[in-house]
Amino acid sequence: MGGKRILIASGKGGVGKSSLCVSLGETLSQMGKRVVLLDLDFGIRALDLFLGVENAPYHLMDVLERRCKPADALIQPQGNERLFLCQAPPSKDDGVPVRWELMEPLTRLFAEHFDYVLADCPAGITPAFYTACRVCDEALVVTNPEPVAVRSAALCRTMALQQNPDLFCRVVIHRVKEKAKENQITDFDAILNETEMPLAAVIPFAPGISAAAAKGELASFSDPDYNEAVRRLALRLEGKKAPLWIS
Ligand SMILES: Nc1ncnc2c1ncn2[C@@H]1O[C@H](COP(=O)(O)OP(=O)(O)OP(=O)(O)O)[C@@H](O)[C@H]1O
Ligand SMILES: [Mg+2]
Repeated sequence: MGGKRILIASGKGGVGKSSLCVSLGETLSQMGKRVVLLDLDFGIRALDLFLGVENAPYHLMDVLERRCKPADALIQPQGNERLFLCQAPPSKDDGVPVRWELMEPLTRLFAEHFDYVLADCPAGITPAFYTACRVCDEALVVTNPEPVAVRSAALCRTMALQQNPDLFCRVVIHRVKEKAKENQITDFDAILNETEMPLAAVIPFAPGISAAAAKGELASFSDPDYNEAVRRLALRLEGKKAPLWIS
């Protein structure tokens, strides 16, 4: 099997998982990698909106329940021949919980054809999260530098390793403000100690990102510090050395 299967999860909601999933996928694709984004947030899917590719005919459950072939459910954002999306079903009742016995062969198949499978999980400890833990090789646990988010990231790691002791878990400290104010934790070592994970990336707060996502233009979002931090994360996933972004 060629590609890496990486889940993106968090304990607390709204920390920026889906945004990071799109930005990371886009960045890896610009580096020449073939990437499929897998939206596991049933009912409140976001990746199609962020990429501006709504109303595709098929979704993940159509594949798993054999209403279509895997390739039929892969949507390609315009202008990027290496980035694909397999979207979540629109209803929360459709196929929850996702059975890992079905997801394992599908993600394995994707990993044969793509360099990266990035699975965007719903927030918290959910059936979809458990499934992703069992079928992925690596996890990026996203937290904001806030006490509740950090605490729940630690729980996320514990629960992930219960499902899959071989899962390589790393933490992403996300939405870090340059002049760390507003109750942000500034001591990243404290975050690493509490979450007991190595650091994958520090991603800065990017003021324009919400507007870009709302317009379906997140893949082309441009903010020099943000883009550079995501690029360095992509390099680290590739096993290359890249300095952490810290203001
Ligand atoms: N680096 C960033 N800087 C500032 N805002 C950000 C950043 N990344 C994401 N956001 C904003 O944070 C909000 C939550 O982002 P997003 O939907 O990606 O989070 P999530 O963790 O996937 O949420 P959920 O738990 O609901 O799935 C959005 O308004 C998004 O635009
Ligand atoms: Mg999300």
